[in-house]
Amino acid sequence: MIDLIQQGFAAHFGGIASFYASPGRINLIGEHTDYNGGFVFPGAIDKGIVAAISLNGTNRVCAVAINMQNEYVEFGLEEADEPQPHWAKYIFGVCREIIKRGGKIGGFDTVFAGDVPDGAGMSSSAALESTFAYALNDLFSLGIDKFELAKIGQATEHNYVGVKCGIMDQFASLFGKAGNLMLLDCRSLEHKYYPFNPQGYKLVLLDTRVKHKLVDNPYNKRRESCERVAATIRLKHPEVEFLRDASLDMLEEVKSEISSEDYMRAKYVIEEVERVMTVCAALERGDYETVGQCMYGTHEGMSKLYEVSCPELDFLNDLARKYNVTGSRVMGGGFGGCTINLVKDELYDNFIAGAKAEYKAQFGKEDCKVYDVVISDGARRLD
Ligand code: GLA
Repeated sequence: MIDLIQQGFAAHFGGIASFYASPGRINLIGEHTDYNGGFVFPGAIDKGIVAAISLNGTNRVCAVAINMQNEYVEFGLEEADEPQPHWAKYIFGVCREIIKRGGKIGGFDTVFAGDVPDGAGMSSSAALESTFAYALNDLFSLGIDKFELAKIGQATEHNYVGVKCGIMDQFASLFGKAGNLMLLDCRSLEHKYYPFNPQGYKLVLLDTRVKHKLVDNPYNKRRESCERVAATIRLKHPEVEFLRDASLDMLEEVKSEISSEDYMRAKYVIEEVERVMTVCAALERGDYETVGQCMYGTHEGMSKLYEVSCPELDFLNDLARKYNVTGSRVMGGGFGGCTINLVKDELYDNFIAGAKAEYKAQFGKEDCKVYDVVISDGARRLD
């Protein structure tokens, strides 16, 4: 990938560029909890975005996306200069969010590529945002800390992509540490690294290769449901800032005042916040069976209460149970993408072979893709 980028940069712009990389992420548990002020348990992976960047002394950005058939886009740094291609909005958004915070930046030339599978729930978009946020901060010596860089990526999603996401993906992409997962409190941004090397188990992703067409922005709708319920509970319990602060008893108290759909969404979130805590305690005593049970619990909740699963993901989850996999669930926002599976070493080969064959037989298309998880470092400059 780096060779390709180097050649691309030489062909389009010539001269010397600096190289930056930022990873995608996995998440062991804690899904749709981040924008509810709750806890998540992500880690950066060995797949990401790499960009060659060179300041060009103008106020224009010239960008080539190798993965998009070398599409070339040029744009200015004013709000009115927003580029058309979807991928370019991420780079533009990062520039704009830096400028809004008082960062003095200018134009640059860039060629970039990535190997995070698109739409697989591993957050290729956060990898892209973090790459450019990290790089521009470095190249223009802006002195922005990594917490703010994560918020710049998140604000890019909110203001230039239209997804009202939480902070998990950008945080993991920037703060990732090889061999470690991190427990992140998404309200305070306090985080703690957990070395993750489960002896006797592997973490593996199975990619449905399905990316469902999402109408009406169902992700933002989930978030709105959560915020409505939190606001209703707050009337009785002013200390409840986010659903993270609510209990199932509080939810029951307001049940008659909220829609049944909002009730289901909130129930999932409150239970999920609890599951993250259970997983933390279990990890500290090396109890992977409990971790696995919680993962199945998350899947059940995401499928039945939060309704962000799909037949292909549910099928893979059922298969995991059938093959005695310790834990399995849909990972990331949902609506397609991957399951994350915690599987005993001795069951691994059988499970992977069975999953591939049965998935293909069921859905009559390609088999599911398999990605072994390698937990890696976060955003960095490559020498
Ligand atoms: C997406 C969002 C994250 C998070 C997850 C679900 O990846 O970008 O902020 O909400 O979905 O946990």
